[in-house]
Amino acid sequence: SGLHLFSSNAICRSVHHSPAWSFMNANARLAWMWRLLITPALLQALHMAVLQGKGSEVSKVLQGPLNYLDQSLSKGNTPYLTGVQYLHLFLVATALAFFQYPFSCHQRGDRSYEGFRFEPRSVFSSLPQEGKRNLLVTSALPYVNNVPHLGNIIGCVLSADVFSRYGRLRGWNMLFVCGTDEYGTATENKAREEGLTPQQICDKYHAIHSSIYKWFQIDFDFFGRTTTEKQTEIAQNIFWRLHKHDFLVEDTVEQLRCESCQRFLADRFVEGTCPHCSYPEARGDQCDKCGRLINAVELREPQCKVCRQTPVIRSSKHLFLDLPKLEAQLEQWLDKSTSTGDWTANAKQITRSWLRDGLKPRCITRDLKWGTPVPHPDFKEKVFYVWFDAPIGYLSITANYTDKWEKWWKNPHQVELYNFMAKDNVPFHSVVFPCSLLGAQDNYTLVNHLVATEYLNYEDTKFSKSRGVGVFGDMAKDTGIPSDVWRFYLLYVRPEGQDSAFSWADMATKNNSELLNNLGNFINRAGMFVTKFFEGCVPAIELQQEDKKLLALVGWELQQYIQLMDKVKIRDALKHILNISRHGNQYIQVNEPWKKIKGGDTERQRAGTVTGLSVNIACLLSVMLFPYMPTVSQTIRDQLNAPQSCINAMLQGTGTFVCALSAGHRVGTVSPLFQKLEVDQIEALKKKFGGQQVFDSALEIITIKAPQIQTSISILRALKAQKAEKAVITAEVTKLLDLKKQLALAEGKSPEPAPQKGKKK
Ligand code: 2FM
Ligand code: ZN
Repeated sequence: SGLHLFSSNAICRSVHHSPAWSFMNANARLAWMWRLLITPALLQALHMAVLQGKGSEVSKVLQGPLNYLDQSLSKGNTPYLTGVQYLHLFLVATALAFFQYPFSCHQRGDRSYEGFRFEPRSVFSSLPQEGKRNLLVTSALPYVNNVPHLGNIIGCVLSADVFSRYGRLRGWNMLFVCGTDEYGTATENKAREEGLTPQQICDKYHAIHSSIYKWFQIDFDFFGRTTTEKQTEIAQNIFWRLHKHDFLVEDTVEQLRCESCQRFLADRFVEGTCPHCSYPEARGDQCDKCGRLINAVELREPQCKVCRQTPVIRSSKHLFLDLPKLEAQLEQWLDKSTSTGDWTANAKQITRSWLRDGLKPRCITRDLKWGTPVPHPDFKEKVFYVWFDAPIGYLSITANYTDKWEKWWKNPHQVELYNFMAKDNVPFHSVVFPCSLLGAQDNYTLVNHLVATEYLNYEDTKFSKSRGVGVFGDMAKDTGIPSDVWRFYLLYVRPEGQDSAFSWADMATKNNSELLNNLGNFINRAGMFVTKFFEGCVPAIELQQEDKKLLALVGWELQQYIQLMDKVKIRDALKHILNISRHGNQYIQVNEPWKKIKGGDTERQRAGTVTGLSVNIACLLSVMLFPYMPTVSQTIRDQLNAPQSCINAMLQGTGTFVCALSAGHRVGTVSPLFQKLEVDQIEALKKKFGGQQVFDSALEIITIKAPQIQTSISILRALKAQKAEKAVITAEVTKLLDLKKQLALAEGKSPEPAPQKGKKK
């Protein structure tokens, strides 16, 4: 038809659709010939030959697959792989793929792309589908008693969001669930601290978490919570099954009980004299002076931290999950899961070290009120330990999303489970929870890919709520920096493989150099050339050697991006997006379309090709950016007036770059995507959010209280927006007024709030 095809895949697709090939099973042929044998080898060969200049070594890479083809041919009943008369097509295809670089320029309406549409998620809940990759993605359920900080956000919800968005681009069937982890001592304690009931605390902080994640554009299919009837139902069911299969053992534990508070004391609620070094303020679990671990009942002169009364020793019967009995089964499953799935190195290593010393029975009950009740009649005053309960939240949250939740959670053959978390959560997800599910023997879906981050620090220290150091989720929006830029920077420094740090200065540098000067500049120039030089219509492309070279580079970066994203190397994959715009900027700089457009016909055509290619690469970038910066991605596509279908074309199937904007396509209004972050703006933010040296007590109060006031104000806003209970709002207002008073005192001002105008006392 006069159409030129440049990529092996495009050629295969064309061959696939031609009736002349019907004498063979086309699917089998394509899959066998290209995917398994030729394409990967050719790509590697291309990379060596074109990008590394090692053309002479190419034969080594190709020899293996070609030998295999040769053998297959000699065994088959036809002397040629695809029949005599079509052999030349096969050779041409290979040669083209080899010498012309991976690129295909398809016209819109090309039949081969029909059906690859980016489908908005259906209003019906999603279920696993036959013949699709069904991925169930969870993010660790954040505790409900705190406002999450940036480290919490990057560690789980943001990472899981990027991967889920990527999966949807790839056409996989995804379900992404999360929710708040609401039970346990920490919640009871927070309730006491804030003068609210545990339920009120949960409602309040669930609303705060929801609004923060909404601002960060975390696109959950469902964001639930653990304090629901489904949770009780499912947790108790798992409990009874463990009981029936004899994986629970009873034991008596000595504990401290405060009679005046009427409760058993968790380790961190007792203080006393260290039995080893006599330090008078040792905690119930450890002595801060000598560093030794302590069993709370060994403390001398113990005190309840709440009421300062002396607790008594009481023994109490508890239930333990018999991990030693499940160990062999666990190890067998772990061997398989870690060798076939994508577990991060830290996840494997932490799990190994837990197993090395042999497993011990783990207590799954607690003497608390705020928890899922233990249904056994002998333990009816007790609740489940949070770490037994919390991961069951993944199941119950899914059950609150769809009645058919078991299609996800009792379906290991059809579903692949990805768990995202920070590294401190690893043993509960790789050892304890899998043991609960294995012991319950109900064909549960167990984790296939355990993705754990390291820690994110804040500047050169740790995030600390109590010291008011660091940026917390609710403060990010008050900085005026767009949500997408926050996402970008957090993903750029994602603690992937090693600890990393958030730094204001670095955020400004990355914004100004990578977003503004590199990515934004390229996309904006490409769009502006179309607008200014070609009246808003994409010019025709006539490829020359230099353009093909650029396409080879872009194709290579795209392949790397896909390979890394498939393996959940989110931070590494982002660098390849930025490489593409860097190549693009260089290409524009060398080809100077702004000069060529003023020349003769040949020169003008050159300007057209450079512009047409650049704007198509900008379109590709919008697709690759979608998981990282969803708003920017959409803005680019709006500016380019790009067809919605372009989003899938490049990432589904084989992942080749296709020109989605054909000649004559009219772009929309092009404008800059990013703004510069100025030094003084960043300095001011840095001051406001702590992280600097604390000098004396007044200044210390100021540095700690000011951000706390900010937090409290945003919490109040969120509460009002969510129409929270009056008692909850009043409690927060009291807290805010108190904070303001403390700040005013520290600043040497009058602690009384200025009388409001027009209001009588
Ligand atoms: O570390 C935490 O914040 C826990 N709430 C995580 C629980 S993850 C899962 F098990 F629910
Ligand atoms: Zn007490």
